[in-house]
Amino acid sequence: MSENKRNALPLVSDDEMQRQQAFAKKTKEIVCSRYPAPKALVRTFGCQQNVADAQRIKGMLAEMGYGFTDEETDADLILFNTCAVREHAEDRVIGNVGALKHFKRRRPDAIVALCGCMMQQQHVADRIRKSFSHVDLVFGTHVIHQLPELLYNTLTRQKRVFAIPDSDGVIAEGIPFVHDGGVRGWLPVMYGCNNFCTYCIVPYVRGRERSRTPEAIKADLKKMLSQGIKDITLLGQNVNSYAGGMTFAQLLRELNAVDGQFTLRFMTSHPKDCTEELLLAMRDCEKVERHLHLPVQCGSDRILKAMNRHYTKAQYLKLIEKARELMPDILFTSDIIVGFPGETYEDFKQTVSLIEQVRYQSLYTFIYSKRHGTPAENMPDPVTRKEKGEWMRELLEVQESIAEEICAQQVGKRFVALAEEPSKNEGMLYLRTLCNQVVEAPGSTALIGQFVNIEVTSGETWILKAKIID
Ligand code: SAH
Ligand code: SF4
Ligand code: F3S
Repeated sequence: MSENKRNALPLVSDDEMQRQQAFAKKTKEIVCSRYPAPKALVRTFGCQQNVADAQRIKGMLAEMGYGFTDEETDADLILFNTCAVREHAEDRVIGNVGALKHFKRRRPDAIVALCGCMMQQQHVADRIRKSFSHVDLVFGTHVIHQLPELLYNTLTRQKRVFAIPDSDGVIAEGIPFVHDGGVRGWLPVMYGCNNFCTYCIVPYVRGRERSRTPEAIKADLKKMLSQGIKDITLLGQNVNSYAGGMTFAQLLRELNAVDGQFTLRFMTSHPKDCTEELLLAMRDCEKVERHLHLPVQCGSDRILKAMNRHYTKAQYLKLIEKARELMPDILFTSDIIVGFPGETYEDFKQTVSLIEQVRYQSLYTFIYSKRHGTPAENMPDPVTRKEKGEWMRELLEVQESIAEEICAQQVGKRFVALAEEPSKNEGMLYLRTLCNQVVEAPGSTALIGQFVNIEVTSGETWILKAKIID
């Protein structure tokens, strides 16, 4: 393979994008003649990557004449954008898809469609084909940009459409996105994962790592800012292994230099790619959050090795120390898996001790879930679910008291925070600090979208109470 070819982006060609545009026009004619006021219900499961995909799916559906609804009874198309990361996520989708049988019986002319990571697995698509005949269209993660053609085929042919090609993945630029309102936005900078952690399905359903160009990212950022979005999260399964002709640290600096008052966040960072260069960029860029989501998964070196994570507990702790040295006010969050196959109580205690050393502001914790086709699927897993549940409770107790202490330490401090939305309590707002802490304060909804000064008055485990000051 020539050097050029190896470095070429797997970009969908302009010709192909124009072909899809032509399908979008034809599909719109059919949709608008078939339904009096065409409406789509798009439901998204899983991570922010899926949320970002859904915004582009909605962009294409809008081009094809659909408005949007949250009510099944109003929908002429129901699309579930699914997640495969844990069994529980898949069970939820299957339950919801089963329930759509009644919908399809009532509305045989409507379309039921499924997409996302779960559908990218052949065994799931086969199950849908066999057992869920009310599903009209199934498509995988690599052909989202072909939705106009796929929907056209579904509407015009008398048979079900399945499109789940095997692929390393593509980059499709130029798809319009529908922003759901609000001041937060999601901006994918890279796709896919090359890490193959032994428990994880993501590399199998999202393809290989590929990065968008800085120009495409910057153009999206400016568009988002022009729509009133003030808090932008750069997305990637391994966002800090970004390689679009510059490093992720350089990308942060470029985006930080874009005019306007806004916050830049990013997730998810892999510890193995968390360089000093990145930490320095965070320190230097005033728009970049003072928060690092750095999933550690486990505190036992033996288990980290079995997970194929490429770092040790000591290396991870060193990163945390370096980050704190450069940014004393930084807050950390993480993902933890409890009960990986072969994990003992002693291994688990290493995780607890790591949590005590790092002192995370909050944690996303998961009990290990066996995923079909991953290396961990065949590893002996003698610890019972009940026991893993007990370990989890022990961990959560430790974490809760740490979170309470961190919150209590914030009392009396002053921050700049972005007013995001009305809180569930009358006359109150939710705001978010640069450290990614959620704050509730009395204030008028007229402030939403503005950065305001706050003083923290009290702290609970996951939310700070504050007053807005001038
Ligand atoms: N790319 C990111 C996140 C991927 S999925 C990263 O590497 O950190 C989000 C989280 O789900 C993971 O961090 C992990 O904690 C959890 N997870 C993934 N596969 C899992 C499995 N099979 N069982 C339990 N938790 C899992
Ligand atoms: Fe999954 Fe690991 Fe890739 Fe994250 S880095 S998506 S946990 S394989
Ligand atoms: Fe789920 Fe796919 Fe995200 S598996 S966590 S929706 S990348």
